[in-house]
Amino acid sequence: MDIQKIREQFPILREKNRDKDLIYLDSAATSLRPVSVIGSEILFYQEYGASIHRSVYELGEKATNAYENTRKKVAKFIGSDSSESIVFTKSATESINLVADAWGFKNLKKGDIVLLTDMEHHSNIVPWQIICDKTGAKVQYIKSTKDGTLDLQELDDALNEKVKIVSFTHVSNVFGTINPAKTIIDKAHKNGSLVLLDGCQSAPHLKIDVKELDCDFFVFSAHKMLGPTGVGVLYGKTEILEDMDPYQTGGGMIRDVTMEKSSWSCLPHKFEAGSPPSAQVYGMGAAIDFLNLYPSEYENVFQYALEKMYKVDGITIYGNAPERTSTISFNIDNIASLDIAQLLDYEGITVRSGHHCCQPLMKSLNILSCARISFYVYNTTEEVDIFIEKLNETIKKLS
Ligand SMILES: Cc1ncc(COP(=O)(O)O)c(C=O)c1O
Repeated sequence: MDIQKIREQFPILREKNRDKDLIYLDSAATSLRPVSVIGSEILFYQEYGASIHRSVYELGEKATNAYENTRKKVAKFIGSDSSESIVFTKSATESINLVADAWGFKNLKKGDIVLLTDMEHHSNIVPWQIICDKTGAKVQYIKSTKDGTLDLQELDDALNEKVKIVSFTHVSNVFGTINPAKTIIDKAHKNGSLVLLDGCQSAPHLKIDVKELDCDFFVFSAHKMLGPTGVGVLYGKTEILEDMDPYQTGGGMIRDVTMEKSSWSCLPHKFEAGSPPSAQVYGMGAAIDFLNLYPSEYENVFQYALEKMYKVDGITIYGNAPERTSTISFNIDNIASLDIAQLLDYEGITVRSGHHCCQPLMKSLNILSCARISFYVYNTTEEVDIFIEKLNETIKKLS
C-alpha cells in the first residue's frame, strides 16, 4: 500500500504545527482520524440524527441500526461472536471503572487481592484502589523487569486463592512491550482468578481474538485506533456481565420502573444508561473499516526508528522486550524530557513528555518523567529521519 495514499486520507496532516510541517508522533495518546471517520460522524447527524432505541419512526430506526450494526462490527473486530458482550462506554477508563465498581463491589471482600502490574496506566490502578478501599480487598503488584517485561515467576509466586482478579495491560504505553497475555490469562484461570485485559495499546496494533485469549474482560478506546473521542468499549463474557449489577442507572437501561423500584434491561443495554454517543459509535465503525482495509506497514517504521534511536548520544530507552510495538520511551542524559518535547514542538514534531499516566512505573524506573514517541498507520521513515536529525540538534542546543 502506497503510504502517501494513506496519508492523503488524514486531513490534519496538511495542517502546520508552529508553522512547520506536522510530524505526529503521539498516537499512543490519541490517533489522528481519516476523512472516512470524520465523514461518517457528519453523515450520522445529516441522515440519521435521531434518538436511538426509543423511536418508532424511520429516522430513529435508521439511527438505532447504525448504532447496533457498529456493535456487531466491534464484536467481530475483537473476535467475539456475541454483540451482547460489547458495552459502549465513554472511554476505556470508564470501562475499567465499570468492572471495578459493578463486578468488584459484588465479588471482592476483606482480604481478597486484585493483582496488577507496575506498568499499568492510572486508569487500571485507581479504580481498583477505590473499590479495594470500599470492600477491604487489597491491590498488589507484579514488578516489571529491567527490560520492560513481566517476570512470570513473580506471577506464579503471587497467585493464590485470595487473588480474585488479575488486571493488566496487553501492551505497555511506556515500554511498548507486548505482554504474554494468553499465558498470563491461563495461569490466572488455573488459579481461579478472573482477568481484565487492558487493550488500549493493543487493539490499535494487534489482531485481537478475545475467544482465543479467553480473557473475561477486554477494554479499549476508539480514539486510539483512528476513531472518534468519547467512545470506549467493554467486552465481557456474557455470563459474567449477566451476573453484574448496573454501573449507572437511568433511562435506556431499565425493563420496568415503578414509583418504588426498577428492574434492568437485558445485555448490553443494562450497562448503557442515558443517551449514548451514537454518532461517535458510528464513527468507530468507519475506523474499523479503515483498519480492515489498509493492512499497515508502520511496524517497519517503528523498527527503523528503534534502530536509529539506539545510536543517539546519551540516550536511555526504557524497555527492551523482544515482543514490542509502536512506542519508544526515552530520556537523554542531563536533559529534561519536557525541554526536548518543547524544542521539538517548534520543529513541528509532536513528542509526549511526562509520566504518561504511569507514576508507579516511573517510580520503579527511578525517574520522574520521560519522552515518548509512538507510531501509527500514517507515519513514514522520512519522518523518523527528520525527527532523529532534530532530536540530535535539540540535544546539542541543550547540552
Ligand atoms: C494502556 C492504557 N490504558 C488505559 C488508557 C486510558 O484510555 P482512555 O483515556 O481512552 O480512557 C490508556 C490511555 O492512554 C492507555 O494507554
